[in-house]
Amino acid sequence: MTGLGSAADLTWNERLLTGINAIDAQHKTLFNSVTLLQEAVQERSMIRTCYMLEQLSANVSNHFRDEEYAMRLHDFPHLTEHIREHRDFTNHLYWVRKACLSHEITGELLTELGSWLLEHVSKSDIDYVPYLTPDRCLLPMTLFDMHTPAGNTALRPLKP
Ligand SMILES: [Fe+2]
Ligand SMILES: [Fe+2]
Repeated sequence: MTGLGSAADLTWNERLLTGINAIDAQHKTLFNSVTLLQEAVQERSMIRTCYMLEQLSANVSNHFRDEEYAMRLHDFPHLTEHIREHRDFTNHLYWVRKACLSHEITGELLTELGSWLLEHVSKSDIDYVPYLTPDRCLLPMTLFDMHTPAGNTALRPLKP
């Protein structure tokens, strides 16, 4: 198992902000999951790596559901393409999780996950921002609160 590639490039930064608090909180949670995944890889712990992949998958699933709901609610015109990107990533993540469980994980597979996340959040997600500006945003914040409770970004799993 090799490293997660250019780890330093995958840290959260303000250029990734959408300005929509609920979405930004979820994005930070996703990047935090990637950081924890990197740590697991650096520890060369296959069990923890697989566990962190499951955590990332759960966070990704919650986030995509809420983001797609928000885009639908605001008639985002590129919804179909955006959802296709989400589905492609979900499929890729499925195969990476499967590879991890069968001890066939590679650093390249993990690097792709982080790179995709960075690319998608910094480009595709930023595209919907004009349609979901805070003053227009119809999102019930309590919906997001259910999925990104305070402290979730600092979530650290129990050591396996
Ligand atoms: Fe997103
Ligand atoms: Fe997205």
